[in-house]
Amino acid sequence: MSSIRPDRLRCESLENPIGIDEWQPRFSWILVSDERDQQQRAYQIAVSSNGETVWDSGRVDGDVSHHIRYAGVELRPLTAYQWCVRVWNQDDVCSDWAEASFVTGMKPGATWQASWISYPIHAQHPAPHFRSPSFTSSKEVQSAYIAFTAKGVCDVFIDGQRVTEDYLNPGWTDYFKRNHYRVYDVADLLGNGEHHIGAIVAEGWYAGQVGNVPEGIYASRLHFLAELHITYSNGSSEVITTDDQWQCTHGAYLAASIMHGEHVDARLAKSGWCTGVTEGDWKAVAAAPFDAEEWHGKKKENIPLAKNLCAHPAQPVRVIQELPALSVSEGEPGNYIYDFGQNMAGVVRLNLDLFSGACVRLRYAEMVTPDGVLYVENLRSAKATDFYICGSEHDVYQPRFTFHGFRYLEISGISEPLPLEAVTALALGSDTPDAGVFSCSNEMLNQLQSNIRWTQRANFLEVPTDCPQRDERLGWTGDAQVFIATACANAGVEAFFRKWLNDMQDAQRADGTIHNVIPEMPWGGNADAAWGDAITVCPTELYTAYGDPELLPQWYQRMKAFCDYYHLAVDENGIRSGKHCLGDWLALDVEDFNICSGGTSKELIQTAFYCLSHRLTAMAAELAGDAAIADEMSQRAGRSAKAFAAHFFDADGRCSSDTQTAYVLALCFDLLPEEQRPTALRRLVDKIHENDDHLNTGFVGVSYLLPTLSRFGEHELACKLLENKTFPSWGYSIANGATTIWERWNGWVKGVGPGDANMNSYSHYAYGSVGKFMYETVAGLKALEPGYKKAQIAPQPGGSLSQASYSYRSIAGDWQVQWSLTDGAFSCDFSIPANCSAAVSLPLTDIDALQIDGQPLADCPSVSQLRVEDGRVCFDAASGNYLCRVAAVPA
Ligand code: BGC
Repeated sequence: MSSIRPDRLRCESLENPIGIDEWQPRFSWILVSDERDQQQRAYQIAVSSNGETVWDSGRVDGDVSHHIRYAGVELRPLTAYQWCVRVWNQDDVCSDWAEASFVTGMKPGATWQASWISYPIHAQHPAPHFRSPSFTSSKEVQSAYIAFTAKGVCDVFIDGQRVTEDYLNPGWTDYFKRNHYRVYDVADLLGNGEHHIGAIVAEGWYAGQVGNVPEGIYASRLHFLAELHITYSNGSSEVITTDDQWQCTHGAYLAASIMHGEHVDARLAKSGWCTGVTEGDWKAVAAAPFDAEEWHGKKKENIPLAKNLCAHPAQPVRVIQELPALSVSEGEPGNYIYDFGQNMAGVVRLNLDLFSGACVRLRYAEMVTPDGVLYVENLRSAKATDFYICGSEHDVYQPRFTFHGFRYLEISGISEPLPLEAVTALALGSDTPDAGVFSCSNEMLNQLQSNIRWTQRANFLEVPTDCPQRDERLGWTGDAQVFIATACANAGVEAFFRKWLNDMQDAQRADGTIHNVIPEMPWGGNADAAWGDAITVCPTELYTAYGDPELLPQWYQRMKAFCDYYHLAVDENGIRSGKHCLGDWLALDVEDFNICSGGTSKELIQTAFYCLSHRLTAMAAELAGDAAIADEMSQRAGRSAKAFAAHFFDADGRCSSDTQTAYVLALCFDLLPEEQRPTALRRLVDKIHENDDHLNTGFVGVSYLLPTLSRFGEHELACKLLENKTFPSWGYSIANGATTIWERWNGWVKGVGPGDANMNSYSHYAYGSVGKFMYETVAGLKALEPGYKKAQIAPQPGGSLSQASYSYRSIAGDWQVQWSLTDGAFSCDFSIPANCSAAVSLPLTDIDALQIDGQPLADCPSVSQLRVEDGRVCFDAASGNYLCRVAAVPA
């Protein structure tokens, strides 16, 4: 039996996906072993459908275990495939097969048989209900897949039963450029007999308020499109499609808006609407052919409804956690406020034992004021209010077409509070699998990690957004760029970000510019320094985390186009001064904290990011084998970096823009010649001391500050900033009750209340980008090769910490580092997944005293390159589990 086996099989980075649009999908697996020093010497993949092999890779030598392309016969649409993989270890012993599956989507570019259906033109409704004519399945169903999309967001039913509990399908794209559909397996819903398909469509992003633009920015008319493909065991098949035979009506939903909430009158619900009942106000639908040019959109472009219709490439939005109500209090008289103890994005589920006609109002908020009333001012124009009128004495209400950012729920319209067990919060988010777990001996930092994770969950909802509560909820490029490395270290976000990169591709103009928010809005302007750089930073970070070898070759031309735009506003020396730079957003290095762009020179930020983006593009071009572009980009970056030092710094390493962020960017991006660095570092440290050992950076400086201090030998100061509890710091928000990351360092002050309500979100992940420092530097795990094929294990104790650990489910396998200091003695346990290796560096100086599993380090066969470097014991380690201890000195 082989000492390694494949596990966690993924196709297009999803586990057993249904409805993929990639016709040569890519396969990945991790390798697991109980033994040390294990490698994959070869693999074999076999793909079959209905027992018939469609691809057998044969034995392929090599240690690659991810993003391997299918190369078999052409796949069929809406078909289930089984795929399996086996591997050979270094001794050429073969493992068992490991199995998984995938289901293809509709063929890319195919014309669907279905027609778009909508409410009759002059009788619109906020939540039309559509119903198919009845159809009968009289034979044994072998497989049945429903593929559907909507202009709007929809719930789809068969015989009144939802085909999925997933939320807000088909999600959000720039519908003028790209539209997604979803596929679900519905074989279990199709027993013998008569059936109906039903759908409820609500405005969603398509026709509802997006950001602060009150009307739909795309169009107003809701549509639905579906095909149900049934294959019977006897080989026959049938397709049921939306067409002009469908009917429509409306039911309980009087309003259903993402931003403002739902209005539901359950008395109006038409029971059995998705069955054969005929009573009620049914109308014939309006139907348009699949590729009809039927837009009533803002842009007034004549674009087919099915423009670029493709399968959604990432996880759907789902209930990712249920949270019970912990307490209830009375706010304003008659208004009962439930506390879930956790800020999140989502909805609630209420068990309402009232009476038919009882009307409850639900308001949501992230905070309660010191007077005990709901704080909703920071929601701005988002009403975030659901109304529900009971239809019976025992109703269960759970909103379906909205979500709110909240920790508190206020219920009005009841004479006494509902029991706590009748009130449950449902956290919603794109269902990206958890990947990273960090913990340490400082409880405040454990809370910080929890806050980072919850803010990621709340804002990774279809696109990476700035915040989930106010009238914004947009894909702000800067925020995503700052946070992406931390995000990848916390969850499996490869598919999620690939989807957003598609959105970004759609948003890029011919001159290389991208919009500040993606999908783009009809306002907001071009993304400039630290925002626009999302186009270079995000693909690079994804490549680092997930190692997809095709990503940067696909992206480098787009990155270059952005660099070319950047280049237009560079003077003859290489200093950039474009118009749109937002500055070091919300930095506190200005007298008036209401000046959002901070104190750092915008020219400096632009020139620094100009250099960064050019370097990343050079690297991507090199990977793509385009030496000419790589060279051009490097030359531009080199020239600008030189100019940067000369223009902004004097010979003593003092910057004309004397802020923490300015020094951090200069040092972190290597923009200063060696000799100027010590003084620049000194000045950065002085600036922090002058601020009473506190940071004052904004979005631009924050993620680089602590890693830069550590890198240049000021690790203790970095840990001090990390562990601070007074203003401004992460600990300050936690001391003030934060359960998510705040937009502003001074978002709320205990006993005083909220900061400026105009821009004061309590769920904004930019400052959560400190996570990367905790995992990479404090715990000490960092990718050295793309996809964590090789990583650095270099823990750095500091501050008050006596213990820290981080485990990470990488695309290559599961890593773990755990160190502790007991009575001053350092020990460290770590795991390196099979087929991977690590460069280990421990904060110890005595090689001879270090033992692995109780044996001298030098005797450990899976360890090599033993040495002491920069005051630390360093070595290379092959895969496996290691317990590192310092031998007790004999008395
Ligand atoms: C958003 C931010 C964003 C900023 C830039 C804000 O309204 O919430 O997160 O990056 O605008 O202008």
